[in-house]
Amino acid sequence: MLGVSFLLTVAAAAQVILATPVARSTYSVKETHHVPRGWTQKGRAPKSQMLAFQIGVKQGDFAELERQLYEVSDPSHPRYGQHLSHEQVNEIVKPKDEALDLVHEWLLSNGVNAFDYSPSKDWINIKISIEDAERLLDTEYSTYVHVDGTEAPRTTKWSLPLHLHEHIDTIQPTTSFMRIKKNAVDYVLSDNKVYIPADYKPPTDQTLARVCTINGTTPECFKTLYKTLGYKPKALSKNKIAFNNFLGEVPIRPDAKLFLEKYEPSAVSGAQEFKFISIDGGPQQDGNLTADQLAEGTSREANLDVQTILGMTYPMSVIAYTTGGEPPQIPDAATGDPPGNEPYLAWVTYVLKQEDLPQVVSTSYGDDEQTVPIAFAKRVCSDFAQLGARGVSLLFSSGDGGAGDIAGNHAELCISNDGKNTTKFLASFPASCPYVTTVGATQGFQPEVAAYRPANSLGPDGKLHGYYASGSGFSEYFSRPKYQDSAVQGYLEKIGSLHKGLYNTAGRGYPDISAQGLYFEYFWNATNGIISGTSASAPLMSSVIALVNDDLISWGKSPLGFLNPWLYQKGYKGFTDILGGGNGGCNTTGFPVTKDWDAVTGFGTPIFPEIVKLAK
Ligand SMILES: *[C@@H]1O[C@H](CO)[C@@H](O)[C@H](O)[C@H]1NC(C)=O
Ligand SMILES: *[C@@H]1O[C@H](CO)[C@@H](O)[C@H](O)[C@H]1NC(C)=O
Ligand SMILES: *[C@@H]1O[C@H](CO)[C@@H](O)[C@H](O)[C@H]1NC(C)=O
Ligand SMILES: *[C@@H]1O[C@H](CO)[C@@H](O)[C@H](O)[C@H]1NC(C)=O
Ligand SMILES: *[C@@H]1O[C@H](CO)[C@@H](O)[C@H](O)[C@H]1NC(C)=O
Repeated sequence: MLGVSFLLTVAAAAQVILATPVARSTYSVKETHHVPRGWTQKGRAPKSQMLAFQIGVKQGDFAELERQLYEVSDPSHPRYGQHLSHEQVNEIVKPKDEALDLVHEWLLSNGVNAFDYSPSKDWINIKISIEDAERLLDTEYSTYVHVDGTEAPRTTKWSLPLHLHEHIDTIQPTTSFMRIKKNAVDYVLSDNKVYIPADYKPPTDQTLARVCTINGTTPECFKTLYKTLGYKPKALSKNKIAFNNFLGEVPIRPDAKLFLEKYEPSAVSGAQEFKFISIDGGPQQDGNLTADQLAEGTSREANLDVQTILGMTYPMSVIAYTTGGEPPQIPDAATGDPPGNEPYLAWVTYVLKQEDLPQVVSTSYGDDEQTVPIAFAKRVCSDFAQLGARGVSLLFSSGDGGAGDIAGNHAELCISNDGKNTTKFLASFPASCPYVTTVGATQGFQPEVAAYRPANSLGPDGKLHGYYASGSGFSEYFSRPKYQDSAVQGYLEKIGSLHKGLYNTAGRGYPDISAQGLYFEYFWNATNGIISGTSASAPLMSSVIALVNDDLISWGKSPLGFLNPWLYQKGYKGFTDILGGGNGGCNTTGFPVTKDWDAVTGFGTPIFPEIVKLAK
């Protein structure tokens, strides 16, 4: 749980509250949400079960925060690079006194007397029994069971007194069934047993041909391809890169050491030096994988992320955030503790409390946008905007299922939130949030093309390999931000009526940029294997951005911060436009790859020295 430093007692809070009593208004429904596919209702949830409620109180002036975010991120604005301080952000987003008073009064009159706040008080956290929660929200909780056996107390509909509707954006856990997933595919543990795209040709450039082979890409290849080779990080005391770990994933030091010994020997000490920050009981460990972790296949994602980042950025400071809890979470039966927070929210809440932030954070997780209630998605996204305003670049993987967001063996399917077949593309969240930078995947070298593997591709191992395509598309939740108006309109004109009706032409389009995402060499269980996905592209792209920041900071300049306004205005010139490759989803050919920005590879892949020039 979050710190207890802001804990109020009944007495202290009551003095504030009782001065402004408000008549209890009648309840009306605040939110309804479908039960997502994969979940079934098992019966009423036990009344005594405890929940860790997060109440999202309406932020004071989010429009003002957004305005300032865009000013400090717009290279043609006089305030460009003048990122906001922690206090400045809190001052803008802190809820109005009236909103906090009314929410407090409601909680106190329902017997809730211990609260805990986020730094700007826009989240109130309480522990509450299901019985009390049902009364508070005029709802009924059921136990829902996922096909994988996870159980979670959730509801599909909840209410609030009318006078609070305008002051509370969201309360969780109620309707969110979000299950974040790793955007990684493959996991082959022996060399050369992979499907090679039929149209692949080795590079003609001799230098590239020496270091890059499609069936096992390495830091040396990426450094040569994206031209970071020979760059030595200089701003070591100031510049940091971090990456997120959820779902029990934890980067394994001995595996990172083996990887670096083989592929980037100058960075071997990095395996010992990267730092863990554990949030909500997230795991930390220094030794090898345990028997349980081996049996469950844990840490392939975490190993990929840390190995890519160390291989690319050493000796930069690297932070591995590990956030505990599987979403949706079950209570710890042994201690009787309520389940923790939704992981993205737990992570962002923790990070927003810190003064000292890493300048780049890579996240290789996401879920179908439709499984996340819209109000909750919007609040989490607006918290990401706060980090952007403070100068942090957030990069997320775009997903591995093309336009349909379903990788693996069901490329032809489109399944809506209520489990029915649909004829609509599915977006991925947080990839669809307009305040983050979303990273797609490429493959091959000369030229690089959009990552794509059709379903049931026969590999030399005699096995059929699943469908994989760079996550692509348009949000149903977030409208198109101004910064990408011209790029996206240009693209929509090019594709004309193709797939009309299957996607939201007015939505935020993604990805913004891309990087290699096929067959990365990595170590897991002390064994060399390969792994793919936009899960690989995100830490690779994040590493390049962190190197750009290193150079900027060493010249006394601000880091890039929220990238997109800069990217769409001028940064794109430092990227290689991707012109080929496939896509898919929902039994279609998905989105086409085109000249200039497209919804499969964005502006393309980085050319480090060009980006540095454009950023100065
Ligand atoms: C696959 O990798 C091996 C080396 O591990 C190399 O000899 C071979 O040429 C590669 N195949 C392709 C298609 O690049
Ligand atoms: C980890 O496992 C490898 C291979 O099994 C072994 O050689 C090594 O000693 C182990 N390292 C630690 C720290 O236990
Ligand atoms: C882990 O490595 C050991 C030693 O090579 C091997 O016996 C075991 O099967 C591996 N486990 C998995 C899950 O790959
Ligand atoms: C959706 O379509 C697929 C393929 O036609 C079929 O196998 C599946 O049962 C359908 N699912 C539902 C819920 O209708
Ligand atoms: C996919 O499209 C093909 C050809 O248009 C069609 O034959 C097939 O039934 C479709 N599959 C599904 C699951 O809709």
